[in-house]
Amino acid sequence: MRIIRTRDYNHMSEHAAAVIAAQLTLQPNSTLGLATGSTPLGAYVRLVEMCAAGKISFAQVQSYNLDEYRGLTHDDPQSYHHFMWENLFSRVDIDVTRTHVPDGSNEDAASTCANYDAAIEAAGGIDLQLLGIGNNGHIGFNEPGDEFVVGTHCVDLTESTIKANSRLFESIDEVPRQAYTLGIGAIMHARRILVIASGTAKADAVHAMCYGPVTPACPASVLQLHPDCIVIADAAALSAC
Ligand code: GLP
Repeated sequence: MRIIRTRDYNHMSEHAAAVIAAQLTLQPNSTLGLATGSTPLGAYVRLVEMCAAGKISFAQVQSYNLDEYRGLTHDDPQSYHHFMWENLFSRVDIDVTRTHVPDGSNEDAASTCANYDAAIEAAGGIDLQLLGIGNNGHIGFNEPGDEFVVGTHCVDLTESTIKANSRLFESIDEVPRQAYTLGIGAIMHARRILVIASGTAKADAVHAMCYGPVTPACPASVLQLHPDCIVIADAAALSAC
């Protein structure tokens, strides 16, 4: 794990965007694993700017998002599908037919998850996986538990995640209680992983990810076993390290 300390959120976003831009320059047909949440927004803004300036292109990229709330349709403003369209896909030259987000509107969890894993495998796996981290150490929606779940699966969100994510909903009752998430297997099989973190709310999780025991009680800790994992975090997120 390589840890890059940045000053603040903007500095973190610049570094993260630069890593993704370099990936696209070196391998224009990369398969990207993409993330949602507040943390990647700044990096996405910078990637949009670089694309508009002709410095990078997503034309040959295909993408697989980490997760989606179960029960939300693609056009639901709270869906991660909508988030990706609004913040990245509609603003860069990506071929939208080559972007993928788990289908939250499909109630059939078994087929949704199996199809998603099969599609990623058929695509040859993920070249660069972007990850945020939850306050409780989750990655994607892999919540703390007794074991690492390898495949894409349907997860019951923990109270702490529901509470943390309720800031983006009108009320906590509107937060879906379940989600589809890429499992630890596809994440760890990515050839390169970029984790980004900002703010003191993430400090304990970042410490556990980087220096704690490798345990499903902190899903992000498994990243210690990855041969090419870069953590870009600001000083506040690294304040417990
Ligand atoms: C959500 C997402 C994660 C994300 C995490 C942190 O639960 N499923 O992929 O990393 O929250 O979000 P934020 O970046 O908004 O703190």
